[in-house]
Amino acid sequence: MASCVLLFLIFCFSCYYGHASSFIMVVCEKTITGQVGHQSVLTCKVETTQDIPDLTILMVVWKKKGDDQFLSVLDKRAGKENKFQPGYEVALNNRTVSLVITDTKVKDEGEYTCQVVTDSGNSMKPTSVNLKVTAKYHPPTANSSDEKEIPNAHKTLTCKATGGYPKGELRWFDENKTEWTKSATPEENQMEDGLFELSSKLPLMRGSTFSEYKCVVYNASGDRVDSVAVSSQLTEPEPPKSHSTIIAPVVVIGSLIVGLLLLLLFICRRRSQKKNRRPSTVPLMGAHAMVPHSDPEIDPPPPYCEDIEAIKA
Ligand SMILES: *[C@@H]1O[C@H](CO)[C@@H](O)[C@H](O)[C@H]1NC(C)=O
Repeated sequence: MASCVLLFLIFCFSCYYGHASSFIMVVCEKTITGQVGHQSVLTCKVETTQDIPDLTILMVVWKKKGDDQFLSVLDKRAGKENKFQPGYEVALNNRTVSLVITDTKVKDEGEYTCQVVTDSGNSMKPTSVNLKVTAKYHPPTANSSDEKEIPNAHKTLTCKATGGYPKGELRWFDENKTEWTKSATPEENQMEDGLFELSSKLPLMRGSTFSEYKCVVYNASGDRVDSVAVSSQLTEPEPPKSHSTIIAPVVVIGSLIVGLLLLLLFICRRRSQKKNRRPSTVPLMGAHAMVPHSDPEIDPPPPYCEDIEAIKA
């Protein structure tokens, strides 16, 4: 019986207390968008249902939903200290209370609640403000590489965009603005800081390839952010040059030698044809034996002719 009375008293007390504080409200903007790396300010106004001209706000308490660690308190009461998390500050300006996030990060995204304590009572149930965070994607990069795994594809275009939030999309277009995104394979990676790295691979089929494709980055709201063009004709850097640097001089010198030999052969031929016009008993195969018998004064054979004829034989 005694406990029932006690419960009743507690109930009445809380009714009275709740009623007394019910004319102070904290009214916040529902959603605020902050940018990664910039300052975000969550702002609320303290309103009263009755006019209280000399209302004094003693305490402002900001909490984050689902994050028990987060608590930022501005405390104006004598002998009390503020409790700010590093990088977060609570500001009070007349009847405007705000939470200032100095360097917004992806992890700051979420719902924050604000409550105040005044000399005329506490605020009603906490009201919340939703912080949305965005980060603009960096300009995309794209390249082309030879494709070996996908049958019928000879090249693959790869596009990459980093540093954005929330998740966006990469889309492909050809010169005629026809979209090819359906043929591409997208991939996204969320980095430690929460930012996204988007990439997309577009295989190019033999015989149905445009010379240039465009990779366009769209942000989470579907707005075009940036684009990059990539040529499908671009070839990857050749495998190590060492082969061609050795082969090229060898080919040049080799062809020079062959050319010289052919020239010598031609000269020798003509000489031996002249000789053959004279009567000779020596068979052609032994042509080199004749060389010394030709008229050395009129028709001196070059010394190398013998060797050339020998090679020919
Ligand atoms: C997408 O880009 C548009 C235009 O730049 C911008 O207004 C919008 O806030 C961006 N949305 C997101 C989610 O980043």
